Amino acid sequence: MPLVRVIDRDGSERELDAPNGATLMEPLRDMDDGVAAICGGMCSCATCHVYVDAEWVAKLPAPMSDERDMLGDLTSRRENSRLSCQVLLNDALSGVRVTIAPEE
Ligand code: FES
Repeated sequence: MPLVRVIDRDGSERELDAPNGATLMEPLRDMDDGVAAICGGMCSCATCHVYVDAEWVAKLPAPMSDERDMLGDLTSRRENSRLSCQVLLNDALSGVRVTIAPEE
């Protein structure tokens, strides 16, 4: 079961368990003060925006064009930005550490 480490908007770090095959968005949506994920993972709202710790960026599958397009519209975008609904979790990603991006 993959472990997700998340820094929330208050700067607190938490550890969350998620089932294999879940998206990174799911545990972040289910936590208190997590991501809104308004579109439910359809890659159309960007309210699941996170910053991935540098050591994990290259371990994640590269974003598809629709994710890149959505990220391109965000003023808070950084090099390590991802839409968490587009990242599928598996054991190889256990320990991934992300920071929830500011709301836009
Ligand atoms: S939940 Fe809407 S883009 Fe990720």
